[in-house]
Amino acid sequence: MAEPFGLVAELTYRCPLACAYCSNPVELSRYRDELSTGQWQRVLAEAAGLGVLQCHFSGGEPLLRRDLADLVASAHDLGLYTNLVTSAVGLSRPRAEQLHAAGLDHVQISLQADEPALSDRIAGTASFARKIEAARVVKELGWPLTLNVVLHRGNIGRIPEIVACAQELAADRLELANTQYYGWAWRNRAALLPSRAQLDHAEEELRAARAGAGLDIRYVLPDYYSRYPKPCMGGWGARQLIVTPGGDVLPCLAAHTLGLPRASVHEAALAAIWAESPVFQRFRGTSWMPDPCRGCERREIDFGGCRCQAFQLTGDAARADPVCHLSPDHRLITEAVAEAGKRGAAEPLAVRPHR
Ligand code: SF4
Ligand code: FES
Repeated sequence: MAEPFGLVAELTYRCPLACAYCSNPVELSRYRDELSTGQWQRVLAEAAGLGVLQCHFSGGEPLLRRDLADLVASAHDLGLYTNLVTSAVGLSRPRAEQLHAAGLDHVQISLQADEPALSDRIAGTASFARKIEAARVVKELGWPLTLNVVLHRGNIGRIPEIVACAQELAADRLELANTQYYGWAWRNRAALLPSRAQLDHAEEELRAARAGAGLDIRYVLPDYYSRYPKPCMGGWGARQLIVTPGGDVLPCLAAHTLGLPRASVHEAALAAIWAESPVFQRFRGTSWMPDPCRGCERREIDFGGCRCQAFQLTGDAARADPVCHLSPDHRLITEAVAEAGKRGAAEPLAVRPHR
């Protein structure tokens, strides 16, 4: 068993935005508790002791934690590379300077689209102008800037404009990540899933926009349109761990949906949870796999795909990810894709999550 490489510290599920593809729990009222500053500092020290090299401060919106700079400073002092994953709402110049002084290494800002009205509609709140202002502050302070845009049928037709926006902001990297369908995105799948025609067009535009763009563009393939699933999280309990606002420790962002035994920093050390807890052991490696993954030559490449997607679609987290064309449940994907092909290009988003 390898050491974990990355820690995702979900400091809070509170958030000023209301994106329809949010990966936070759907039943938010069950997750109100938050670790104290001291408890997070203990988690960070245990993570560093376990071999973690990168800490992603995430949420919800991590800027809503008043102690964020203290936590960044603690992580920095422990030798961790620190990344702030933020909507940028609340990233004023004084706050940014405070985080800079604390040693923050990198900033990732979510952008919902390149165009103000569309971006604000997707975010569920007026936020585009503040994001752009914050992105400029990030560059002025000399941080590397990643822009992350979650793609869906409401914005996938704007790839050239989104790339131009990233260029104008002098972003170092642009992540174009197609929506993953669990949590809120699962509830809103009919409104979010692009058609094959939209996708083909977007990929053509991406090829053209990439040439001479002068920035690193990462495009995450939409797995509903792939023959094989993605190796979610690089394998279960293989490279990353997530600590939720209340102190639960998970192998992936959606593992709370699977009904597995809970592991909490209130009850055990991070090292013991990583090595021995049932939640991390359940799908680690390949011995848990049923057919067709058990005998498949790709089992060490994609690890049978995403456990949370398998559970979401079939009710059984141990089945092959239905995205795989070899899965006996693959029709669940082809049916959804066929439905998406019948819908118009810009349907309104159906369900709004929390604020
Ligand atoms: Fe991956 Fe399983 Fe499909 Fe093989 S059968 S490609 S291991 S999901
Ligand atoms: Fe949980 Fe993919 S999101 S395994």
